[in-house]
Amino acid sequence: MKKRTIKKQLALALPLFILSLMTINSFGQPFFKSHPSINPFQYEIVKEETFDHAAVSSAHALASMVGAAIMQDGGNAFDAAIAVQFSLAVVYPQAGNIGGGGFMLARRANGKLIGIDYREAAPANASRDMYLDEKGNPFPLKSTRGASASGIPGSVAGMISIHAYAKLPFAKLIEPAIELAEFGFVISESEAKGLNANRNNFIKYSSAPSAFTKKEKWKAGDTLIQTELALTLKRIQEKGAAGFYEGPTADYIVNEMSHSGGMITLEDLKKYTPKIRKPIEFDYKDHHIISFAPPSSGGILIAQMMKMIAPFDIEKLGHNTVESVSLMVEAQRRAYADRAEHMGDPDFWKVPIKTLISDDYSKQRMSDYLPGIKGSSTSTIAGQIHESEQTTHFSVIDKKGNMVAITTTLNDSYGNKTIVAGAGFILNNEMDDFSIKPGVPNMYGAIGGEANSIQAGKRMLSSMTPTLVTFNNKPYLTIGTPGGTTIPNQVYEGLIDIIDFKKSLKQAIDGPRFHHQWIPDAIGIETGFPEATENALKAMGYSISKRGQFGRMDGVQISSNGKRIAAGDKRGDDSVAGY
Ligand code: GLY
Repeated sequence: MKKRTIKKQLALALPLFILSLMTINSFGQPFFKSHPSINPFQYEIVKEETFDHAAVSSAHALASMVGAAIMQDGGNAFDAAIAVQFSLAVVYPQAGNIGGGGFMLARRANGKLIGIDYREAAPANASRDMYLDEKGNPFPLKSTRGASASGIPGSVAGMISIHAYAKLPFAKLIEPAIELAEFGFVISESEAKGLNANRNNFIKYSSAPSAFTKKEKWKAGDTLIQTELALTLKRIQEKGAAGFYEGPTADYIVNEMSHSGGMITLEDLKKYTPKIRKPIEFDYKDHHIISFAPPSSGGILIAQMMKMIAPFDIEKLGHNTVESVSLMVEAQRRAYADRAEHMGDPDFWKVPIKTLISDDYSKQRMSDYLPGIKGSSTSTIAGQIHESEQTTHFSVIDKKGNMVAITTTLNDSYGNKTIVAGAGFILNNEMDDFSIKPGVPNMYGAIGGEANSIQAGKRMLSSMTPTLVTFNNKPYLTIGTPGGTTIPNQVYEGLIDIIDFKKSLKQAIDGPRFHHQWIPDAIGIETGFPEATENALKAMGYSISKRGQFGRMDGVQISSNGKRIAAGDKRGDDSVAGY
């Protein structure tokens, strides 16, 4: 087990630790008082551990520990997921959220699948060309910065829907987040860096100062207290969805709109509802894969790509060799071309799911694939069909075998950089996930067309790919990652690593990634990608772009003896917990 400790700076450690204990005792923190082993002022990042009964892997150690404690207190994986999502909204403000949205995919121990879509939706006043000037050119930054970029948040309504499958009272599940916001927690170096890097944007795009900006620069070991957010969470604790979508919180959101051209109204908030989506399911080499349906493109993409490569003996081609990578990339090229043309919110656009994930279609798409020859995105267009980077993922498996995978997002890191005055949370910039103009790339370089054009009430196409795997009809794996359009490719590569290349969960999570999304016609490779393969791909004619880190994958797997193996990505502060 690899561990890293996050704590108060040494000189301040003791007095502040004592102060924190006094604070706990004097003001009362029901959750942390009854769980003294979780200390928000000194905690460890645990990258990999095996547990007997239940486990969580998430972007933050405190959130994972909260989720594990909730399960030890008698909660199931759904209870834990709700507590983790709210805790991440406090301790991981760059992507954990109540101002964004997400997807929950679950398999209950009885085999029943549940897909809950709490993706943001376009406000009623949104329209197709809202981000274009009179000449038809996109306004710079309007779909990415400030309230103008925000879709109607879905996370709080999503958590309330998920609670139908939980065992403990909702008030108990949100309590840890309230205490973390009200009394604070110490931040890591990467969080300090993120807050410092976004300081000017927070000031520019918010109507009032917030907890995220202070005079001095943030540093590792500083305490972040979010008083306004604590009050918002308390309103949700007391009133459920109405604590967010109505009353003071709704007023704060609507007031914030006028600062930077936002459109969300009280009516939009009141009307927001999560939707149940039938998961995408397919078989791959003795494994049954379950993933998210539109408005996510993720489930369809991984089904397409895995089916396209299934006829090849990829294990024989070798892990991360030019032969296996070029095969996988050619599947990526074809699937992402289909994404741009055929995928969007299924309530507004007929997505030809059945055809896209059929064996025949996959075969047809690969009919022009020639091993050893680079494909082309000019000649590869979307298939003809005659029907029609910052996000965060966490995984939970409980002692009964309920599996929950949640990917949730504000879209960009710290969303649109607007902190809602009075309410203390960051708003998403999810409107940029729509195709604001056919052929104009969004911030992930993805293009789209009519299927993903803006319409009032429509949900923007996502790449989030919370994924579950069963083996012999038994729960086996829950996995997912952030990373915008790279998400489906990361999950695809992770699954192939585990299933074909027999990598451990941790090896699959940490392995170097590659990404092709049809347009641009280039393979993005991560640091650590084998140089020999990079050179061989170049020799084949591929254009290679070197990228920083891709995503942060978090997963939990059940071993053959029933243990829960949890692994958190080496790329971030991701951490596991369990019992
Ligand atoms: N905002 C990233 C996604 O939904 O794909």
